[in-house]
Amino acid sequence: MNKITKAVIPAAGLGTRFLPATKALPKEMLPIVDTPNIHYIVEEAVKAGITDILIIVSASKEAIENYFDVNPALEMRLKASKKDKEAEEIRAIANMANIVFIRQKEPKGLGDAILYAKSFIGNEPFAVLLGDDLITSDVKPAIGELMDAYYKTQGTILGCKKVSKDLLHKYGVVQPTGSSSGDLFEVCDMVEKPKDPALAPSDVAVLGRYVLPPEIFKILENTKPGVGGEIQLTDAIKTSMEKIKCYACVFTGTRYDIGDKFGYIKATIDFALKRPDIGPELQAYINTLATKK
Ligand code: G1P
Repeated sequence: MNKITKAVIPAAGLGTRFLPATKALPKEMLPIVDTPNIHYIVEEAVKAGITDILIIVSASKEAIENYFDVNPALEMRLKASKKDKEAEEIRAIANMANIVFIRQKEPKGLGDAILYAKSFIGNEPFAVLLGDDLITSDVKPAIGELMDAYYKTQGTILGCKKVSKDLLHKYGVVQPTGSSSGDLFEVCDMVEKPKDPALAPSDVAVLGRYVLPPEIFKILENTKPGVGGEIQLTDAIKTSMEKIKCYACVFTGTRYDIGDKFGYIKATIDFALKRPDIGPELQAYINTLATKK
């Protein structure tokens, strides 16, 4: 059986929803408390056993490359001021996984971005993690649950959850082959960003996690631009269903849409509340806000 060891993280998007910050800072580097959000995406993959990660970037995303590199000058200064623990933490980030980068030349869509991973992946199934979807779990990393589903079925796996009808237009929405009960069920069709809830085949949306077969690359090479004039991963997955079975895996973790301002703030508050250093103080502050109303 093919073990999944490689992951792809598309991070080429402009981040226009977070302007003006993203004028000078990649959206993936916006911190959740004090840690860039892409750190958590890489951490999720590493916890699931991924050893090799390709991050697909675009121009002016050097900050991401620097973050996952060593910084000897900073380490030296930290050590000189007796901050050995911080120096070690900084070094550990560079050792999280074998991380490589490639640039998407033009913003032609998620499907086009994934195609840049073709030679890195070769002929193996692989994981995809989208940075706008931050998923926390006390049980198992979400991508690990999808990997287990792959080992069970050998099919394409989509990380899914039910979302409310008014939000379906933001996502790829799956059509279950039969019943959509349980946490793993077969899918026979998908609709990318249905304009109207009536056009959505269900209320189960794909939320930024995939296990894809290597056959997807050949299909992507022949996929024409779809919704929004972009080469859509959803369209390629639909084509792949003719030959490879596709499943929705309902992951257990909590998912934050950090590509959205409110989702980003919610993630920041929840993460901060869980931290022993600032959690109690933040909770007390939130309590004072609540009593003011
Ligand atoms: C992409 C996919 C969509 C999926 C979503 C998950 O859209 O095209 O099918 O549901 O990610 O967050 P994007 O949010 O990149 O426009």
